[in-house]
Amino acid sequence: MKRSWKKLLLKGLNPLDYSARVLNNKTHLPPLDLRWDVGPLSNFESSAAEFRLYLKLLADLTPSSRVLDIGCGCGQIALELLDQLDKNGRYTGCDINLAAITWCRKFIASTDDRFSFFHLDVRNGMYNPHGRHLASSYRFDLNDQFDVILLKSVFTHMMKDEVENYVSQLSALLNTRGRCVATFFLLNDRQRALAEAGKNVIAFHRHDDTIAFANPQAPESIVAFDEDKLLKMASARGLELARPIQYGAWSGDKNGLSHQDILILQKRS
Ligand SMILES: C[S@@+](CC[C@H](N)C(=O)[O-])C[C@H]1O[C@@H](n2cnc3c(N)ncnc32)[C@H](O)[C@@H]1O
Repeated sequence: MKRSWKKLLLKGLNPLDYSARVLNNKTHLPPLDLRWDVGPLSNFESSAAEFRLYLKLLADLTPSSRVLDIGCGCGQIALELLDQLDKNGRYTGCDINLAAITWCRKFIASTDDRFSFFHLDVRNGMYNPHGRHLASSYRFDLNDQFDVILLKSVFTHMMKDEVENYVSQLSALLNTRGRCVATFFLLNDRQRALAEAGKNVIAFHRHDDTIAFANPQAPESIVAFDEDKLLKMASARGLELARPIQYGAWSGDKNGLSHQDILILQKRS
């Protein structure tokens, strides 16, 4: 079924979903069609809890942290951090999905001034096909620096020059001791060996020497990045690994921590 039709169907089911959420004491969650936009419906809450732990354990999130969530979707992580941040903590979320940002503003930011959201009118074939700006040249107009920057399942929907442009701005957005947590599907020797053994959960088709697509007809649906090229690009833009890469289980790696691979970056010392 086409994505737009599925979206329409889910919108139609929103009233039913709302009734189920009332019965289950989950009225604080976004509606069904917005939750579907950001990943599997079955793990909306567990994925948030999982990443809360990663932010604490891998990126030193504390109650007073200033957090920037780029590609925040409909507030999955924001909802999870409501109780985690204290009165000094701040969360800024941004996304190209206007409906998601409108929901977050109305249901999160309006009642909690530690949380703010802004819309990026940036083009993405899957999430905002008519966006005004190109992700490859968009500049984040934020006069602020953050302790934690999160890009959860965002670079997995972006092209090489777009990732490059975002990565080139991270160093300026990070505090001296800040950490950026970004998820990827990384192409490397181990992943290739697992692919040959038929273990990769997603089969990627090489587009060039840097990126690969799961579906070349809809490239932005899932994008993988060559690990060496990515690390070189990050290094050239003033970033280095703050911790070893946390490989995910998507490649068939039985020790995978999460589903996607996780990079924890910091300003290069
Ligand atoms: C799979 S969803 C993940 C959303 C959220 N990070 C989460 O985990 O709940 C991918 C998100 O990336 C956003 N996105 C795609 N391209 C983007 C871009 N160039 N800049 C910012 N966000 C983008 C989409 O709108 C979507 O909300």
